[in-house]
Amino acid sequence: MELLTAIDTRASASRLGAPGPTPEHLERMLEAARHAPDHGRMKPWHLVVLDEAVKHKFAAAAAEAKRRRTPALKAEQLAAEREKILRSPTIVVVGCAVRENPKVPEIEQVIAVGAAAQNLFLAAHDLGYGVMWKTGAAAYDPDVKAAVGLKDHDHIVGIIHVGTRLK
Ligand SMILES: Cc1cc2nc3c(=O)[nH]c(=O)nc-3n(C[C@H](O)[C@H](O)[C@H](O)COP(=O)(O)O)c2cc1C
Repeated sequence: MELLTAIDTRASASRLGAPGPTPEHLERMLEAARHAPDHGRMKPWHLVVLDEAVKHKFAAAAAEAKRRRTPALKAEQLAAEREKILRSPTIVVVGCAVRENPKVPEIEQVIAVGAAAQNLFLAAHDLGYGVMWKTGAAAYDPDVKAAVGLKDHDHIVGIIHVGTRLK
């Protein structure tokens, strides 16, 4: 696919199913993410493909964060929150690990990671996959960040779901 065609035809896939990307395609997508422009070559991106164990940890942290925000939630609503993560074919969490740098303020590190996320999105689209870039309140929760190895002051820029587009 030509680059401009990929850009012009990119769209979110709100319903995704199996299969997710092959390991080779996943690595290609991550490689594309790492080619993002980056002031100071800090490589602030923190790319985590959720394997089964981390997916469960991440889903549990997201549900617990939701329970803290809304204590009255019913068990089935919390289960639905977990399920949103667990049923996804493949999730790549695109995080920004922020570091002190007098020449590169935090916002520029976050912008670089946004560019990495977009590269990943376009690469997945080019390879024929459906993609949904999400954040939501969970992305700002310290325990959810910790589940993927990020610190409190870091950022989750995208919880990127990749799979086969269902519609
Ligand atoms: C930083 C960021 C966060 C997003 N978070 C969400 C989200 O939490 N839930 C959601 O449904 N879409 C989310 N989106 C996707 C946008 O809603 C989506 O791109 C928009 O609806 C436009 O649709 P399109 O991608 O098909 O052009 C997010 C996109 C970005 C860039």
